[in-house]
This record gives sequence, C-alpha cells and structure tokens, in this order.
Amino acid sequence: MKTDLEQKFFENYQHKATATYFTPGRVNLIGEHIDYNGGLVMPCAISLGTWLSVAPNNEKVIRFKSLSFAEEQAVPLQSSYNKTGEDWYNYPLGVFNEILKEKAIDQGLDLLFYGNIPIGSGLSSSASIEVIMAYALNEYFNLGYTRLELVLLAQWVENQFIGVNCGVMDQFAVAFGEKDKALVLNCDTLKYRVVACDMGNYCLAIINTNKPRKLSESKYNERVLECQTALKQLNEDITLNNLCELNGEKFALHSHLLTDPVILKRATHVVKENDRVSFAAKALNEGNLADFGRLMYASHLSLKELYEVTGVELDTVVDFCENYAPVIGARMTGAGFGGCAIALLENGFEEDFVKELNLYYTEKIGYAPTVYFSAIGNGASTI
Ligand code: GLA
Repeated sequence: MKTDLEQKFFENYQHKATATYFTPGRVNLIGEHIDYNGGLVMPCAISLGTWLSVAPNNEKVIRFKSLSFAEEQAVPLQSSYNKTGEDWYNYPLGVFNEILKEKAIDQGLDLLFYGNIPIGSGLSSSASIEVIMAYALNEYFNLGYTRLELVLLAQWVENQFIGVNCGVMDQFAVAFGEKDKALVLNCDTLKYRVVACDMGNYCLAIINTNKPRKLSESKYNERVLECQTALKQLNEDITLNNLCELNGEKFALHSHLLTDPVILKRATHVVKENDRVSFAAKALNEGNLADFGRLMYASHLSLKELYEVTGVELDTVVDFCENYAPVIGARMTGAGFGGCAIALLENGFEEDFVKELNLYYTEKIGYAPTVYFSAIGNGASTI
C-alpha cells in the first residue's frame, strides 16, 4: 500500500512524499456504550485502516486530497478553522485547528489519504483519520505530544469540531492497538492492559450490515444525555462520578431512584455491560471462548432490549449466528443503529458462513451484507 500511495502522491502533486503513516480501524469485542460512562471496554485494532503520505510545500497551504473521495480542499495556514459542510477533510482540518492552537507550524503541507474502512460502518473510520493526522503532525514536526495526548486531542476534535459526543474508546484503540491483543481499557483512569487474543480454533468475522449510518445524525448524543440524566438522579442518593462506579449488585440498591423506565433501562445496560467486560476479560485470559461467546450474545441482547441501539439489520445478523452452530458468539460492535456486527466463527467455515448468512440476510433485509475476516493489528505507526 505504501508504494502505491507514494506513487499516487507523485502523480497528484508532482513531487515526492517524504513520509507515510498508517492508522487502523477497530472493533470493540465487548463493552458497548460504556466509554462515556467511565467503565471498561475491550477493543482491538483491525487490518483495515487509513494511510497518509505527506510532503512539505513552499506555499504555506495545506492541501487535503484522498484516493477514497473526489472532494479535495486547500486552506492557507492560519491560527484556526471552522467546519465547513460534511466532507471528509473536516476531520483532519479539525486536527490542524486544535494543534495550531498550541503549536506553531509554519510549513505548508501536501497530504494524500487513502482509507479502506467502510465509512459509517462502525469500524471507526473517523477516529482513524483523526488519529493519523494528529500522529503524522506530531512525528513530522516533532511536536512532543505523547500518544495519549494525541488520543485526547483527536477525541476533542470529534466532540467539538465534528459535534459527536463520543467517548475515548475509538481514538484510543486505533492509537494503542497491538497485534493479536485486545485492550482492556478503563475509560475513567485511561489505564489499560493487553490480553492475548488467542482465538484457538476460531476466527473473528466482521459483518457489515451495509445499512448506512451517520453518528452525528443518529441517536448517539441522545443516549449520552440519557446516561447523564441517570447519573444525576442516582446522585440524589449516593455520590458517583460515573455510572460504571456501580456494579450490578450496588446498582440494585439505588435503581429505585430512576423512575423513568427508559432511563432505568439505559442505566441497567451500562452497569451490567460493564460487569460483562470484566467477566469477558477473565474468560479470554483463560482461553474460555465458550464463555466469551455467551457474554457476546448477552451484550447484544442488552443493546437490543435495554439500550435500543441495534435495529433489524444487526438483529438479523445475530439471529442468524445464534442458529448457526459453528458460531459461538456474536454481537453488534460500535455505536449500533446499523454498522457492523462481529462473530466468533469456527475455522474452516468461512465460506459456508458467508454463503448462508448472505441468503438469510438478503431474504429478510433486501440487500446483502459484507463479511471481512480481519487479523488483529497494531495501532498508529510510521511505515
Ligand atoms: C462509538 C463512539 C465510541 C463508543 C461507541 C459505543 O464508536 O465513538 O466512543 O461510545 O460508539 O460503545
């Protein structure tokens, strides 16, 4: 990919790229809608991702081009920018906006991106492009940010510049991902540990429902607000900084404070899902994939019935998996409302799984899903 992108860079800009970077997408194995509630999540980086080649120009201009989108943009170097429209270059532009508030960059840049993460699929194409831009600028100009600072900066861009109140999971996962490892991240302390993702006789299938989804237009921000409401109401009884400070048992002692049934459902999901992540990390550590798989199904059910973020497309994929013996666990991954599901599939059944799922899903939904078999890869890097 690197050589191809650098070749295209030359064709686009008539001079050579001087550096090339890669940042992956991610799947979340379990722990959904937990990060903005200060709990545990378990994402890992995948092999789909974003590539970026860079070279300086002498015009004090930043040029954004991509092999994946027709739209391009050029802006003069200045101290701040505003989001304009919905085009892809707003993500890296937001990163410049943030970094230029803190660091002096006096050098124009030509940029060429390429990405193969399906957009709006819940595999974090936006975190990937934000982090690659932040990582590239940090490396290129030796700005001295730590990896964690880059993650927080990228999340800030998503929250403030793009307008989605996401948690830290996606940016963290695509920056810190490790080959063949899942990250167990505490979103309150930002401390994490890695767990070997030894799937033995199983592989990870990623199923894109191909239902278009846009986080900023979805009900994501509404769920964030509902959790804030639950937290406020619980604080009438106990002092909590976030919902995930309660485990299932403690929550039961205070849940009577949540008199609105919708708010109660949302908080119940959060608390129980957070507990499931601890159980899942233990199961994975012990190589107990059967337990891990059961927890995946339980997570999906909770996201369907309590958090209400799945939808008929994701439910159809998981229904199929539940009745397909070589799959031992499946669930939606990411924000939901469409996007992707993941499944633990016995090795050797890949072709049959794709064929059977295609038939089942197409009959119910009217179009086909796309299935990827991804390795678990590394986070942001210079290549
Ligand atoms: C999106 C957000 C994340 C996280 C997930 C749900 O991917 O960007 O911060 O909240 O949804 O777990």
